Amino acid sequence: MSFVTVKELMVDAEANGYAVGAFNLNNMEIMQAVIQAGEEERSPVILQASQGGIKYAGLSYIVAMARAAAEKATIPIALNLDHGTSFEQAVACICAGFSSVMIDGSSHSLESNIELTRRVVEIAHIAGASVEGELGRIGGTEDDISVSEKDALMTDPDEAATFVEETGVDLLAVAIGTAHGVYQGKPELDFERLKVIKEKLNIPVVLHGASGVSDEDIKKAILLGIRKINIDIELRLAFSNTVREVLQNNSREIDPRKILGPARDGMKEVVKQKMRLFGSSGRV
Ligand code: G3H
Ligand code: ZN
Repeated sequence: MSFVTVKELMVDAEANGYAVGAFNLNNMEIMQAVIQAGEEERSPVILQASQGGIKYAGLSYIVAMARAAAEKATIPIALNLDHGTSFEQAVACICAGFSSVMIDGSSHSLESNIELTRRVVEIAHIAGASVEGELGRIGGTEDDISVSEKDALMTDPDEAATFVEETGVDLLAVAIGTAHGVYQGKPELDFERLKVIKEKLNIPVVLHGASGVSDEDIKKAILLGIRKINIDIELRLAFSNTVREVLQNNSREIDPRKILGPARDGMKEVVKQKMRLFGSSGRV
């Protein structure tokens, strides 16, 4: 099976009021954990590579691993660039085989963000790829991208409507109070803002920084129109906690397969729980 676009996955999600999980990956075990979870849950999946993921594994390894996974898969799979930083990188990913890209121009002025996103949309659509933009600035740290609390900006609903109209993006990532990385306190989501944003847009809306957000808030966000949910940190935690546990129980273990295999299983369970929570289980 070849990759589908994130936009294509959004059609059933919109029609049936659920969200598709987008999981960050940078090695074989994470890839297998996500795909196996999708197969077992009969859920579509979005595989995505961040700046750090691309730096760590290399673009060609990421595409090759995802292709190997998609070849035998019986569920729809999208391969997405996460927080793309430039026009050139988005084009490189599309040429390498990504079905979808995110271009994150949120650190620029509104005008420059619109300009950059519009250029990416133009070329991506010619190539058959879908595009996610970002408006507002999501706080916290993910790999090389860091936004301090004072620089984080909530998405303005009117600007969001202008942004979508002028760029032609297929999905929009919004800043409504979540942040990347591990939360210190409980995140306070601005649901009223999400409601207004959703009323003004006719495209699917994306929630970033969803690791550590309570199940109750996730469900509420989906009810209010969130259709793609990004998870990275909770996979890292599942992976590293299991590795620590295995080595604590057997400090003489030297076989990477006996260390990474259980870590893969631990991540798979987290991904399966998310799929059930997001409502994407059983949709394939
Ligand atoms: O783009 C990736 C996600 O927004 C990751 O969110 O840091 O809460 O796992 P997270
Ligand atoms: Zn993000």
